[in-house]
Formats: sequence, structure tokens, C-alpha cells
Amino acid sequence: MSLRIARKQLLRRKPIAALVSETEGAGGLKRSLGAGDLIMLAIGAVIGAGIFSAIGMAAAGQLGPNGEVIRQGAGPALILSFLFLGGVCALAGLCYAELAAMIPQAGSAYAYSYATLGELVAWIIGWDLILEYAVGNVAVAISWGDYFHTLLRGFGVALPPWLATGYRTALLSPDPRVHRLLASAPHVFGIPILVNLPAFGVVMLITWLLLRGARESATANNIMVAIKLMALTLFVVVGVMHLHPANYHPFAPNGFSGIHQGAAIVFFAYIGFDAISTAAEETRNPQRNLPIGILGGLAVCTLIYVVVGAVLTGMVSYRQLAVADPLARALDLAGLTTTGGIVALGATVSMAAVLLVFQYGQPRIFFAMARDGLLPQWAAKVHPRTRVPWATTLFTGIVVALWSLVGDANETYDLTNIGTLFAFFLVSVGVLVLRYKEPDRPRPFKAPLIWPVSMLSAASCVFVMAGLPDEAWRRFEFWLVIGLIIYFAYGYRHSSLHRR
Ligand code: ALA
Repeated sequence: MSLRIARKQLLRRKPIAALVSETEGAGGLKRSLGAGDLIMLAIGAVIGAGIFSAIGMAAAGQLGPNGEVIRQGAGPALILSFLFLGGVCALAGLCYAELAAMIPQAGSAYAYSYATLGELVAWIIGWDLILEYAVGNVAVAISWGDYFHTLLRGFGVALPPWLATGYRTALLSPDPRVHRLLASAPHVFGIPILVNLPAFGVVMLITWLLLRGARESATANNIMVAIKLMALTLFVVVGVMHLHPANYHPFAPNGFSGIHQGAAIVFFAYIGFDAISTAAEETRNPQRNLPIGILGGLAVCTLIYVVVGAVLTGMVSYRQLAVADPLARALDLAGLTTTGGIVALGATVSMAAVLLVFQYGQPRIFFAMARDGLLPQWAAKVHPRTRVPWATTLFTGIVVALWSLVGDANETYDLTNIGTLFAFFLVSVGVLVLRYKEPDRPRPFKAPLIWPVSMLSAASCVFVMAGLPDEAWRRFEFWLVIGLIIYFAYGYRHSSLHRR
């Protein structure tokens, strides 16, 4: 094939009309979600391990297994990190909303970029979104396991540590007690058996729920969102009565660099507001409902994070927060053990809701990619009765559950953040490109001041990425290389646009 033809294919864009019509045939998904469901889905996806778990590391910083500093903490200035991220995500959210309303199809940023930036970039984004959805869920599942264990201990039940700690967590922990598990755990053929059984179990349970159909899952999500809001309200109301102003000094112990690195990790708390765009194909009147869902959900979450961050760092010294369950720990340290238990219960419910939305989103991205021929056809199978993409739902469930069994949360937060920020970056650029390439295309929602909004959004995503450790960059580069190899070995040849 000549170089010119190959270049043409890599840059080939999927016409938007084709994207829209695909969703209307018999092979499409069922449209059952309204604006209220979407805001609930957004809160369901956004408030989870970020605020219940990663917040601790963002405030206190992180040490490696040999005591080396991996990242500096923001201290109480963490609330500045949250405010800054709220701004970054609002910019990216405007770009997402414009594209999501214009191209109401399952597949999120993947589908948008296929229409704007061409097949190669679309593949890169689709591949990259696996980091956001599937790998992100590994981190959430592990944090879920940590809070679940805290909860069990509250009832006097303690799992043996080797059944509640993943192998990577023991390997990377700076805590000598956790590290020693490598030696004390049962061994099979010389390999230590260190597994996070609760994390594995919850992912399998969620997968089963999703296989039953989207509508049932949205209802379950609504209930879980109500519970998570109650848990955080309880934390704030009780915590605010136990503030010690001395804890706010120093306010920013590591200055700007701490706030920056803190933002790069706690960005995890914001991931998910874009996840609802993957439900575009199942949304009634997506042109109106999607923008409301994305921006409305984001505003509510930012407010909650700033308040929770301020209360948490005022209750205990930020140095004490480098634990897996910082909110429960802060209440414990203040002598509020029962409240700590209730919040831990709320945390497990919250994170289960996050798991639900992401386990819902990932299969739909795979589904969209398979429908375009970039992944094998079995991945595009929709169940005739429930209309759920069952093959990818099951596949995602098994992979995420197995990774959660042995993985480490901190390691996966970084990988998820860098991948998601990169996808946000490409979407921000994409919305601008499309304004010029297809200026007359109807835009039910138009991002205001497109030049400053999209450029500022793209630049701030890169800025937040720069706050992540070198290791995260190396892993991300490796991930992209593997993705390119798969694309050229499979998707490039099998793409439906190519065959046509
Ligand atoms: N934002 C989601 C969470 O914090 C991913 O769990």
C-alpha cells in the first residue's frame, strides 16, 4: 500500500451522520435515561475512592518502600488543589458537553475523536480510556476492599492480612508491617499468596448486576448516591465540631509544588463526570440532558470536595493522613469510632457506585470500537432481551477483578490519572478542530469562548499531568506503545471504514 493511502486511512474520520444513525437501528442500545438519572450517574461515578482514599496521600505525600519521597503532599492547601481541578474539569467538561451532545453515541471521547481527529487518534483515545475506566476501577476496588476491612474490624471480624492485601501493595508499601507480609504470607511454589479477596468479590458482584440491564443498574445507582451524600454530610457535620485551627499551620507545607503534586493525584476524585457521556446512546433527548448532567454533576462534586478537604485537614495533622482510609482514620483519631464506622459503611457504598458506573462505561467503549471493526466482532454482541453489550461487560469484569486481586491502589491511581488527562487533552483539541472542519454542523450545546476554553483546557491538562511521578510517565508510554502495536496488527486492517 502506498504511503499516501496509508496516511489517508490513519487520518480518516468517521462521518457524524453515520455515528448518529448507527445508534438508531435495531443493533443500538435502549434509550431509558433522563437528565436526573445522568446527574445521579455523574455523582455516582465521581465521588468515590478519590475523596475517601486518595485524598490522604494528596495531603500527606507518598514515600516509597525504602523511605524515598515519591510525591510531596499539599497539606491543608489541598483545598486549593481541589478548586484548581474544579476549574480544569469545568473547561474540559464544556468541551466534552459540546461533543457529547453533538455525537450522542456510546464510546465517549473515542467516538468524538473518530469524527474529529481520525482513526489513529481515535484508537489511541479508546486504548487510553481503558486506563481511565478499567484500570481506574482496579484502584477503586482496592480502596473498597480497604474500607470494607475497616468496617469488618469495627464488628470485631478481621480477615487474615494475606486475604485482604494485594501482592503489589505489600511490595510497594513503606510500612514495614505490610512489607513483612511478603515473608509471612503462605507460599505456594515459593510465591507468596497475597490477595485482596474483598476487592475481587465486589467487582464480580457488580458485573453480575450490570449483566441484568442498564435500567436496573441506574436505579441501584440512585440509591447508592443518596447514601454517599449522607455519609459525607455526616463526616462534615461531626468533623466540623472537632476542628483544631493549629492543624491549618503550615497551610502549604510544600508550597506550590505540594499543591501541584497533590492536584495530580487527587485528580482521581474528579474522574467520572465524563463517564456519563458513554451513556449518550441510552439517554432520552441527549442534546439537552447530557450538558446538564456533566456540568451540574461537576459543580456539586467540587463543592463537596472543598468542604470535606477543609474539615479533614482541620481535624488531624495532614501528616497522619497517609493511610488507605483517611476519613475513617480522622474520625477514629478524634475518638469518634462509631461515626468512623458509619462513614466507612458509606464509603463502601460510594465506591460500589463508582465501580458500577465505570464497569458500565468500559464495555460500551469496547462495544463502540468493535462496531467500528477496531476490535474483534464478538465484542460488539448485544443481548437480545436486555440490550446490554454482554460479552464486553463480562470480559471487563473478569480482567478488573483479577487485577484488583493482586494490584496496588496508589500505582493504579497514577496510571489512571495520566491516561484520563491525556484523553481530556485530546478532546479539548478535538472540539476546536471540529468547529473549523464542520462549522455548519448543528451544535445543540456550544461551549462558550471556544478558543480560550479549549486551549486553556488542553494546557491545564498537560500541566496537571506534569505533576505525576516519572514512573507514571514511563508506564503510560509503555501502554501507548502496546496500543499502537495492537492497532497496526489488527484494527488497521479490520476497520469498517477501511473495508468500505
Ligand atoms: N472519581 C472516582 C473516584 O474517586 C473515580 O473514585
